[in-house]
Amino acid sequence: MARKKIALIGSGMIGGTLAHLAGLKELGDIVLFDIADGIPQGKGLDIAQSSPVEGFNASLTGASDYAAIEGADVCIVTAGVARKPGMSRDDLLGINLKVMEQVGAGIKKYAPNAFVICITNPLDAMVWALQKFSGLPKNMVVGMAGVLDSARFRLFLSEEFKVSVQDVTAFVLGGHGDTMVPLARYSTVAGIPLTDLVKMGWVTKERLEEIIQRTRDGGAEIVGLLKTGSAYYAPAASAIEMAESYLKDKKRVLPVAAHLSGQYGVKDMYVGVPTIIGAGGVERIVEIDLNKAEQEAFDKSVAAVAGLCEACINIAPALK
Ligand code: APR
Repeated sequence: MARKKIALIGSGMIGGTLAHLAGLKELGDIVLFDIADGIPQGKGLDIAQSSPVEGFNASLTGASDYAAIEGADVCIVTAGVARKPGMSRDDLLGINLKVMEQVGAGIKKYAPNAFVICITNPLDAMVWALQKFSGLPKNMVVGMAGVLDSARFRLFLSEEFKVSVQDVTAFVLGGHGDTMVPLARYSTVAGIPLTDLVKMGWVTKERLEEIIQRTRDGGAEIVGLLKTGSAYYAPAASAIEMAESYLKDKKRVLPVAAHLSGQYGVKDMYVGVPTIIGAGGVERIVEIDLNKAEQEAFDKSVAAVAGLCEACINIAPALK
């Protein structure tokens, strides 16, 4: 069986890291694409030269022409600009929306059967626009946010409790970052909900709230430290987990920005929800009952995403 083809649209910090991880995990042959000529070619060649040392088999090529992504099984989109200190994800909207229009056209023409994972921010609005610009089926276009937000939450919880990250699960809903809704009663240490851990005296409610706030600000904390860009190792690892679940039909239950058509009371928007990702793309959206406080936080998050989609429509009325 021929290898799968993975197209990375955008070959900056996240794109390069995606290529490296996809190679190390032998997910398939990799095409790096970017408008900056030379960058995708150079990164592809560099990573390919690590393959004899690491012992993985994959072809890595770079291109500045969309024809190179032809027939891709998976496209991971990071094209656009990243945040600098003082910028919010929403500040990127105008520039990155135009980028999504170009990327959508390229995918529509050359990779209409791909599973598409968008990482470009502001995530929930960009993935929504990308699906419309590309015209691909809604279950085949998703946004990466929840896996990253929950990874940050899991790390901070594991450090707080001094337990392995492997034994901490986190359940998050809603938009990326600032309006993320962590569900404490569904986040666990080895199956014990955080709400029980509070009762057991492992953590106070106040301390838990601080950890949640640090998670929400997780991206900004890194932008503040790096000063010249935003996070890339954890975002890349998160998107690779989603791509792997699709390519290997693992049916992982992962929080992703998925198209909602009535689930959770939301219509024609992308919002972070738990999903099953397999060979059929988004095979199922897991709908749970929310309590009053959770529903309020979720509604607030949805309203923030709706505001961004409105801003997109004002710039590109065809999105309506
Ligand atoms: N088409 C293709 N590539 C583009 C385009 C375009 N129209 N516009 C910009 N790019 C490329 C840039 O040349 C650059 O190499 O996208 C790449 C973005 O890389 P970085 O600036 O290093 O950004 P990165 O850290 O990878 O983040 C990318 O993901 O998490 C989000 O907020 C982040 O929106 C940002 C995106």
